[in-house]
Amino acid sequence: MQSAHINHLIDPSCADPHPQPADLLAWYDQHGRDLPWRLKGGRRPDPYHVWLSEIMLQQTTVAAVKPYFAAFLEAFPTVQALAAADDGLVMEMWAGLGYYARARNLLKCARVVTETYGGQFPQTASALKELPGIGDYTSAAIAAIAFNEPAAVVDGNIERVISRLYTIETPLPAAKVEIKAKVDALTPQDRPGDFAQAMMDLGATLCTPKAPKCLICCWREACAAHAIGIEERFPIKPQKKPKPVRYGTVFWIERNGQAFLIRRPERGLLGGMLALVSTDWDAEAPVPAAPCSAEWQVLPNEVKHVFTHFELRLSVWVARVDKAPPLQGEWRKMDTQLLSALPTVMKKAAKLAMTR
Ligand code: ADE
Repeated sequence: MQSAHINHLIDPSCADPHPQPADLLAWYDQHGRDLPWRLKGGRRPDPYHVWLSEIMLQQTTVAAVKPYFAAFLEAFPTVQALAAADDGLVMEMWAGLGYYARARNLLKCARVVTETYGGQFPQTASALKELPGIGDYTSAAIAAIAFNEPAAVVDGNIERVISRLYTIETPLPAAKVEIKAKVDALTPQDRPGDFAQAMMDLGATLCTPKAPKCLICCWREACAAHAIGIEERFPIKPQKKPKPVRYGTVFWIERNGQAFLIRRPERGLLGGMLALVSTDWDAEAPVPAAPCSAEWQVLPNEVKHVFTHFELRLSVWVARVDKAPPLQGEWRKMDTQLLSALPTVMKKAAKLAMTR
């Protein structure tokens, strides 16, 4: 196929070589995903729903978010209801979604919006960015989607679309500035929130990392990478470094069908989450000091879990006791409800212990 750019020089009636927001919006109206936090047909969604979904969608897939979004709205139908919630309950409801600082900031933000703003989210990207847990991306997304501000929204999907459209050769993350400027120039005054979500949907469904479906893309004539058949090269990414490995030991302490669990300190990894008693996690496997004397059994399989910056390997020690260890903690019934209240790495350890 001939390049769209060359075509255009030969035949000016040929499709426009510049991406037109209107073409993307027309595609979105027909093919945009039906997602629970969206309202179609030009109706403006509830800012509380938009905020909640955008926080949940940070570094997390749409499929993973859907059930959590539904459960949160059911338990907390308004931002005021969320602000009044018990911290521990919110952390347990967030368990499994990862990046737990988001849940702590979610509560802080709900409380600021309730107490300082009378339950109404501020309506501009710059004011939203002052709130806990809301950075550049999220403030722009909420301002565009909930309040129609033509803010430039850039997430991973949009980075891919833009770097292909303009064959951006700078590797990420340095390319972010250039990409943001392109999005800024493209974002229309009319329907900026739909435009942002249309870009996300294009990236998620057609302009995919592998085997993009260029033949049915509304912007194929405008895409510089497609014109020369090198879509999959973009975005250019830095070489991946192997993740360092850390080691630790967790202790499963049982008494009468109950397990002894702690709440992790607010600061740090898995902060505020329910967890098994654990050693620190270090580059060298620690010589574990058990939290109480008991007949400890070391399980044959270890737990492996990948965090953003390292891989964790935990050995799991198990004991039955008759009194609680000298630690602040709580006894919890060993059932599926307990498993779903634990963050994924701890759930893996608990499952190993419960099925030993
Ligand atoms: N990822 C982040 N925000 C999103 C949204 N509003 N729709 C779809 N995917 C998203």
